[in-house]
Amino acid sequence: MKLKLLLIFLFLAVLFIPTESKPKHKDKHKDKHKDKPRGHGREKKKQTFEDIIEDIIFKESSDDDDEDHSFLDWLRDLQDLDGECMPNPCLNNGVCKQKGRRGYKCDCPRPFRGRRCEKGPKVCRRGVCGRGECVLTSTAPFYECKCKYPFQPPDCKRYSVCEPNPCRNGGQCVQEGNDFDCQCPEGFSGRFCHVGPNDCYVDDGESYRGNVSETDDGFDCLYWNSHFILENAADPFNSFENDDGLGPHNFCRNPDGEPRPWCFFRRGLRLFWDYCDVNKCPKPTGRPEPPTGGPQTPTSGPQAPTSGPQTPTSGPKPPTVQPPPTTTEAAKTTKEPIGPPVVPSPSPAPKQFETCGVAQPKKTLTRIFGGLKVSPGAIPWQVSLQQKPKNSNMKYSHVCGGVLIKSCWVLTAGHCIEQNKDMQVVMGTLSLDIHDPSAQVIQVENAIVHENYRETSEAVYNDIALLRLRGTNGVCANETQFVKTACLPSGQISDGTECTISGWGATEDSNYGSNHLLEANVLLISQTKCSEPTIYGNVLNNGMFCAGYLQGGVDSCQGDSGGPLTCKQNNTSVVYGVVSWGDQCGKKNKPGVYSRVSNFLDWINSKTRGPA
Ligand code: ARG
Repeated sequence: MKLKLLLIFLFLAVLFIPTESKPKHKDKHKDKHKDKPRGHGREKKKQTFEDIIEDIIFKESSDDDDEDHSFLDWLRDLQDLDGECMPNPCLNNGVCKQKGRRGYKCDCPRPFRGRRCEKGPKVCRRGVCGRGECVLTSTAPFYECKCKYPFQPPDCKRYSVCEPNPCRNGGQCVQEGNDFDCQCPEGFSGRFCHVGPNDCYVDDGESYRGNVSETDDGFDCLYWNSHFILENAADPFNSFENDDGLGPHNFCRNPDGEPRPWCFFRRGLRLFWDYCDVNKCPKPTGRPEPPTGGPQTPTSGPQAPTSGPQTPTSGPKPPTVQPPPTTTEAAKTTKEPIGPPVVPSPSPAPKQFETCGVAQPKKTLTRIFGGLKVSPGAIPWQVSLQQKPKNSNMKYSHVCGGVLIKSCWVLTAGHCIEQNKDMQVVMGTLSLDIHDPSAQVIQVENAIVHENYRETSEAVYNDIALLRLRGTNGVCANETQFVKTACLPSGQISDGTECTISGWGATEDSNYGSNHLLEANVLLISQTKCSEPTIYGNVLNNGMFCAGYLQGGVDSCQGDSGGPLTCKQNNTSVVYGVVSWGDQCGKKNKPGVYSRVSNFLDWINSKTRGPA
């Protein structure tokens, strides 16, 4: 009897003990959302003293800050690159110089150092700021610690709760063990009552200068001059068209044409960004327009309290998945402001889509690597293919990516097409969940899957399809700054070339997925290499090629299929591949496999012949 009870108990325990969450795939495309903490949904989390103590970034580590430089060298050897400086292995705009036959040297702009200019200034050594964020300053000692409250300046090693009072604007500090709560006077909010009653943004929040420093989900924003951001190869101060709102603070801003203010935040050792929990200003009702953020309180300057709302970091260890090297060329893109969104004109402009493969000059971070975000108009040929059951009233949902190659033609993967579905494409937008006036939504008239499309348990062959869009007089998509065509390739591109993949990577069942278009850079891998027994063996044919990193990490994944892999040929972007398949995502020796568009040029031309 007892045994029986015990067995029942064990059975119940197995049922109810939460199973270890599956290992997260490393699809960088999904990082932003997939890694959100479970159970938080849109509700706010509150960081407790314990969270600060547990935070892995503060854990003493035996790693010194000399990272594993062999990673890229090993990868490059594997991929048989010819010139060591092609693609540029130097990060942070370092200039590559060829050294001997197989070597290179990076000339790093200050303050970067390291073989690949991957290291920021040494002042922010791990541990220097105790439980606080190390931010860089321009005067000696060139750094400052922003403590995670209740840890106290100068080095955030000692803590004291409510003493002195961290709450601003007359807020009252209530101690709860080692935690605290600020009870704010009416109208004030934020963990330190530092957000005033008129703190709000107008339009897209480009002019917002308020004090909100938390993301929608309650993560503390990193300081814009945080060492952690630089260490992750993004430099806010040298990357945005309009960085005047940025400074040595952690307030949400919109320097790059996002729909609303946002900020960087950290989870563990990884850098993310998200929109902020800022209110939109009410529409003026005859009365004067409310200030755009603006100074809220007489006592508070433009900065957060010195011992107040900070995000910690001191561990200069970059994320486990290293970004692919950035190219300096991308950093030199012309700075042309992006105007207001262009609403597609109803009548066809005569000069539509005359050139292909030329994206909007970048306004945002020259490169947020590894799939963080795409700037408006940077991948204007990216399409979201959406489906719903035929003639149903259900909502369309994203199933695959696609590439606009003509006003009325989208290239996608064959396996994305399902019979008995209504299909539409959405383009000109980065976000699939926010209403965006620059988005164009167009019905798919019919889908043509390659006649020799074939799926086996090992691979997908001739995985290519064309979507004919609905339109009038040969005009379907309208060319705008956010909607442009990609060019078709002419000939082969050499192995080792750095190309770009992009996608929303949202799966059919993830209603709260990666809604923001993300991009990553991958290297073309030689067919011989990729056909080695440890990689994909003999399943590859000429209609496919591999791209990515053999050591794993950056890769396309579920939901990115059909989307573009573009490479630069004579300074224009050509769609060299279409996301097709792979053995899981981001796995070592299992890079992404792409349909080789250059193999299907005759097929594409024969189907799309005609003016549009
Ligand atoms: N088949 C996937 C899709 O339908 C794309 C998989 C790409 N996989 C990879 N490891 N690159 O979205």
